[in-house]
Amino acid sequence: MSVVLRRPSAPHALAVAARLWFIAATVGQWAFVWFIVAFFTPPLVTGHLQALNNKPHITGYVPGDALGNTQLLLHVYAGALVTFVGVLQLLPVLRRRWPRLHRWSGRIFVTIAALATLNGFYLTWIRGSRLNLPSALSISINGALILLFVALAWRSALRRDFGGHRRHALRAYLLVNGVWFLRIGIMLAAVALAPLGYSMAYDGAVFLGLSFLSWIAPLAFLQLYLVAERSPHPRFQYGVSGLFAALTLLTAGGGVAAFLFMWRPHL
Ligand code: HEM
Repeated sequence: MSVVLRRPSAPHALAVAARLWFIAATVGQWAFVWFIVAFFTPPLVTGHLQALNNKPHITGYVPGDALGNTQLLLHVYAGALVTFVGVLQLLPVLRRRWPRLHRWSGRIFVTIAALATLNGFYLTWIRGSRLNLPSALSISINGALILLFVALAWRSALRRDFGGHRRHALRAYLLVNGVWFLRIGIMLAAVALAPLGYSMAYDGAVFLGLSFLSWIAPLAFLQLYLVAERSPHPRFQYGVSGLFAALTLLTAGGGVAAFLFMWRPHL
């Protein structure tokens, strides 16, 4: 008996590459969620709030600043929830088998994404938690785009424009994860630049570049994927599949490095 191995068709290769990337991203994003819950919850439960500062923050916990501390805690838990739910929204099995659940978790996603973004604005521009102006502008544009794309995703769902809904929801998902992309970007850049003796400064060009790339690059790669999906050119589709395979390795590597070197030392 001879086994004939056939090359997968170009659309199939593209879909498989996108799925592999999504699996790598899910593992990394849920590790981030786990870290947030594991780091912030024990000080809240035991009342030792000073322990909230047992890792570097921009401002962090400030004794006596009840409003600022509450906003910070609301922000990180809203961030964890929206990151967790964002993944669920994209699972095809959930959408097909339990469409009501998809609609309800969609409403939760939109509400919590807006909450995390609005109190992110409070932390940045009213509490004054910013490293510098360019990085504060970058996260604020990211936040404004989150509000825009969750609104567009919701509107297209109400209009039953499912093509538009899918595109806008994918953008909202990527934008909500801008904070996580920044962290894996920092890890990848640190590994790539270490042999050159470069160490990253928060006001340096590399960090500022990463701040903007953390939301621009995911949107650009998504756009390329959407174009490839509709392309009549198999070679282009294979090329984009190869790119997504490479992105899968980078995402997995950056996610593991962030967990090991950024988060685990603080747990
Ligand atoms: C909706 C997506 C967002 C998520 C998932 C998210 C998540 C988080 C998390 C988990 C932290 C704590 C990080 C740590 O301690 O390691 C954080 C901090 C912070 N976020 Fe967000 N964030 C989001 C959007 C935003 C936006 C749009 C802004 C600003 C416009 C913002 C401003 C901030 C600031 C200023 C801090 C630092 C607070 C401090 O260190 O004192 N975030 N965010």
